[in-house]
Amino acid sequence: MPSDAAEVLTAAGYTVDTFDTSEPPPRDEIIARTRGCAGVITMLSDRVDDKFLDAVGSSLRIVANYAVGFDNVDLEACKQRNIRVSNTPGVLTEATADTAWALILAAARNVAEGDRVMRTGKWSGWAPTQLLGLELNGATLGILGAGRIGSAVARRSIGFGMRVIYTDTTTNEMLEKELGAERVDLDRLVAESDVLTLHIPMTPEARHLIGAARFKAMKPNAVLINTARGPIVDESALVEALRNKEIAAAGLDVYENEPRVAPGLAELPNVVLLPHLGSATTTTRGKMAAMAAENVIAVLTGREPPNAVV
Ligand code: GLV
Ligand code: GLV
Repeated sequence: MPSDAAEVLTAAGYTVDTFDTSEPPPRDEIIARTRGCAGVITMLSDRVDDKFLDAVGSSLRIVANYAVGFDNVDLEACKQRNIRVSNTPGVLTEATADTAWALILAAARNVAEGDRVMRTGKWSGWAPTQLLGLELNGATLGILGAGRIGSAVARRSIGFGMRVIYTDTTTNEMLEKELGAERVDLDRLVAESDVLTLHIPMTPEARHLIGAARFKAMKPNAVLINTARGPIVDESALVEALRNKEIAAAGLDVYENEPRVAPGLAELPNVVLLPHLGSATTTTRGKMAAMAAENVIAVLTGREPPNAVV
């Protein structure tokens, strides 16, 4: 993690134990070194559940998750033990919306496949029908979940001349006023989108929301983008849909069983795969670190954490 968190905590007088590896250490080591701590900053790949909380002991007062999503944390288990939980909303909105757009453009216009053609020496010269993609101008952008990130993705579409539709539990006045966006139900969103991009949190209801039946209902030229959480999409069904050309392409930043991907997915030419880079800018990862540290300090000094989840 960028050094900001440790610096902020050290400056506030706390003893900080950090793992000096760029990849998360084994769970046993995390548990062993969290034992006796008052706070812990966790990654989205760390499962914080009854087992974890029992193993680290009763000194823990806050779990500051280094992510906006917190589906890796069992909130009920934390509540029962009077442990606070925080996340890092807001600071990663723009960076994540950029990642979604990187995938939209790459998947719609064969950027990754074109790069592979060049690198493998397979380009024999310009041709009228080589790697034809989806024209974004005039196409319909469908946003599932018009919260902070979904709205930021929608706002970026202005320059591309797209029509915007969205599905959410509430009306998004800003999107309707500024973009003329229309709120539709999930059936219409799936049927009408040329680009369908997912921005809902991972809840039990969101699991496999986009599966075989939804792929059949999508346009054959449609592009699916997922920068939210892998399990929202039935990844095996997506492999079939891409293989059978039920949809044209997909751009993925997240997967059902990270870091593994569904069998067959990586062999398909019409999918662009990123290793969960949504918030991965130097600026954003630094802000997330500082934010996590501030939440820890708030709880340990008896204040309400600014980004409390529970
Ligand atoms: C990243 O996936 C996050 O939830 O911050
Ligand atoms: C393409 O390079 C064009 O000149 O149309």
